[in-house]
Amino acid sequence: MASAWLLLAFSLAAAQSFDQLTPGVLEPALELPQLPKTNSTLNLTCFGWRLLAPELILTSGGALHFGERITEEELLSIRHVSADLIVTDDWFLTNLDLLAGLESVGGNVEIRWNERLRDISGLSNIRVIGGTMNIMFNPSLSDMPGFTQLEVVGRSLKILHNTALVSITGFPALARIGRDFTLIGNEKLLSAPRMPSLRAVDGSIEVVYNRALHSLDDMVVALERVEGNFIIKDAS
Ligand SMILES: *[C@@H]1O[C@H](CO)[C@@H](O)[C@H](O)[C@H]1NC(C)=O
Ligand SMILES: *[C@@H]1O[C@H](CO)[C@@H](O)[C@H](O)[C@H]1NC(C)=O
Repeated sequence: MASAWLLLAFSLAAAQSFDQLTPGVLEPALELPQLPKTNSTLNLTCFGWRLLAPELILTSGGALHFGERITEEELLSIRHVSADLIVTDDWFLTNLDLLAGLESVGGNVEIRWNERLRDISGLSNIRVIGGTMNIMFNPSLSDMPGFTQLEVVGRSLKILHNTALVSITGFPALARIGRDFTLIGNEKLLSAPRMPSLRAVDGSIEVVYNRALHSLDDMVVALERVEGNFIIKDAS
């Protein structure tokens, strides 16, 4: 049922930007992955999340697990993060291979302001994220492969202001996003990610200010349900 308006949406998008297409209510009886409960403990303020130490944080100063410094070997052995995983302001990190053991994150995944980060495929063993995943302001990230096991994001998936990002080739298994799917300000992004398994977005889809973007088709091949709005603006 969604496909008719989706098709309409894309032909409109190709010609001109448009706002706020709202689909009707669709049948619920899909076999979608259950939404996990978020375990995030981040206290958000207008300055960011820094009021409480996150469960696991990687930054220029090293890796801290519940506030304690850990070695690379210990980092590699972590399989589950119950609350939040933060990779931020790391000036040296070029990849996330030390996180390759991770299979689940109960809270948020925040990957932001990492100057040299080029490869985030180290997160490919994560199957479930309970909270939101924000990937933002990573100026060296040009491609986004990986996330091969990820099936469900409990809250939102946000890919914002990664100014070198040209393509997103990961997320082959992602079937459900519990809130919004947001792509904003990735100025070199040429096409929306190929998401062959994405069937439901329980919030809105927002694709805004990605000025080089010219196709969304791959993102919606399996999409059956969007509960909120579908907003596309300023694509080419
Ligand atoms: C963070 O939020 C939790 C839950 O709302 C609260 O219990 C805690 O005191 C807050 N911590 C800080 C440092 O604000
Ligand atoms: C959320 O936290 C609870 C309690 O710590 C834990 O049992 C559960 O596995 C966590 N969820 C995820 C998805 O990690």
